[in-house]
Amino acid sequence: MKEYSNRIPPDTLSALTNYLEQKHQENTTFSFHQDNKEFLNQLRIIFKDIPEIVDSLKEDSYIVTRKVNKANSKVAFCPHFDNYSSTILIPLKVPDSKFNGDIILWENARKTPSNVISHMISKLYFQNKIATKKLVKMFNEGKNFTRHSVKPGSFVQFDGFVGLHFNLNVDSGERMSLLIHNDKKFANTFIVKMIEKYSQYSVKPK
Ligand SMILES: [Fe+2]
Repeated sequence: MKEYSNRIPPDTLSALTNYLEQKHQENTTFSFHQDNKEFLNQLRIIFKDIPEIVDSLKEDSYIVTRKVNKANSKVAFCPHFDNYSSTILIPLKVPDSKFNGDIILWENARKTPSNVISHMISKLYFQNKIATKKLVKMFNEGKNFTRHSVKPGSFVQFDGFVGLHFNLNVDSGERMSLLIHNDKKFANTFIVKMIEKYSQYSVKPK
């Protein structure tokens, strides 16, 4: 994981937070902003002085805002691999408590899968109820996983395609983050398209 410390000035951070608050769909944990040119352009303006972020804002980036509080903190402790090999995580609000939604990462937990079938098989191997229990226990025992406490103003970039990762829950206040995913693997396969549709559906309020 690569950390960029104190790179976002306070006025940029507040402009960004205000804009994303407006664009985040109410009462949802995740809002998805891909294929939205106006949104992309606005982010390019806000981040104009931060090349590492501007360079990652592409037409086909998968951009998500995530807003979590104690009540909707259920999407925590779910270790998974992404379909993307680059993720930029920009925290906007982080509660001042032990369980503040921090990201937990096991870097290079798997080798780069050579095809979509091996990608799926290792996803199934790591992303099921039994594996989740074991992995969370592993984290609690201080094995393999590292907690990354990234403060607003800083951001990180990591490979969530081979790095197994999850978030802590939020036990007070609110956490808000912007996530920019790039380099989608096996992008044109039916199965990856279905996974993406299903994961968007599964976090929708019902
Ligand atoms: Fe992820």
